[in-house]
Amino acid sequence: MNKSHLELSQVGMDFPTPNGNFCALENVNLKINEGEFISLIGHSGCGKSTVLNVVAGLLKATKGGVILENKEVDEPGPERAVVFQNHSLLPWLTVYQNVELAVKQTQKKTTKAQRQQWVMHNLELVHMTHAKDKLPSEISGGMKQRVGIARALAMQPKVLLMDEPFGALDALTRAHLQDSVMEIHATLKNTVIMITHDVDEAVLLSDRIVMMTNGPNATIGEILDVNLARPRARIALADDQAYNHCRHAVLQFLYEKQRKVETVNQVNNKKSSIDQQAAELPVKASTDAA
Ligand SMILES: Nc1ncnc2c1ncn2[C@@H]1O[C@H](COP(=O)(O)OP(=O)(O)OP(=O)(O)O)[C@@H](O)[C@H]1O
Ligand SMILES: [Mg+2]
Repeated sequence: MNKSHLELSQVGMDFPTPNGNFCALENVNLKINEGEFISLIGHSGCGKSTVLNVVAGLLKATKGGVILENKEVDEPGPERAVVFQNHSLLPWLTVYQNVELAVKQTQKKTTKAQRQQWVMHNLELVHMTHAKDKLPSEISGGMKQRVGIARALAMQPKVLLMDEPFGALDALTRAHLQDSVMEIHATLKNTVIMITHDVDEAVLLSDRIVMMTNGPNATIGEILDVNLARPRARIALADDQAYNHCRHAVLQFLYEKQRKVETVNQVNNKKSSIDQQAAELPVKASTDAA
């Protein structure tokens, strides 16, 4: 049964800089239901990681706050696990031991046998049991990312926070991991907030796509409901009208609506700098959904 369990309320974030306060976020409001898969998308530097870090409790909002199940979030906690873009495994521990460490921290009262079973169960979820005794240096980037996800899941978080989890991976590995994440989400039904720059990834995985305006004073510009039945198959979706409608809506927001704001803001500046920015827009619409 869905209920609104995570709420960002009037979140604002100012960073002190040598030139005075920099307002990164202003009045960010979002209610997320239990089990929802939310993607956060927006141009580089708009404030996506800042939002995620506030929810993770790694940053304290300067205005407003975050409520998880009626409790204010004011520090990191095991009920909000984070997966970063650059897999942060401990290099001297094996795959198994990296996951075990998270289990030991979160399951203090269980027996060794129960913990072993739980580590193996989570490695199975990401199809990594075969490499359990390898060191991080002996496995690929995609495999490291799988272990990072297993480690986060092993903490049984209510909310899984992922900051560009597949950003450093090639298209094929990325597609495999996207499928794994969809499978895991269907099984565990965790609430997920995932940051991505990839429009196809956002549409394929999400229940809603939260699109952020450009900073400073960034906020939520639009929210798109992705009403596509699950399980979702990337090849079938490539020709699906509803899928393409969602994809178009996100592209339009990023490249027309947000780009227009940039152009108006900068029209008094040199035109050449605008052309340069247009050429360097970092958000990509990958072709690997087909
Ligand atoms: N500690 C800090 N001090 C000052 N400014 C900061 C700090 N952290 C972030 N910012 C600024 O806040 C804005 C938002 O940064 P953030 O990292 O959240 O962006 P992002 O959307 O995650 O970008 P990217 O897609 O490139 O990862 C940027 O302008 C950034 O320079
Ligand atoms: Mg970021």
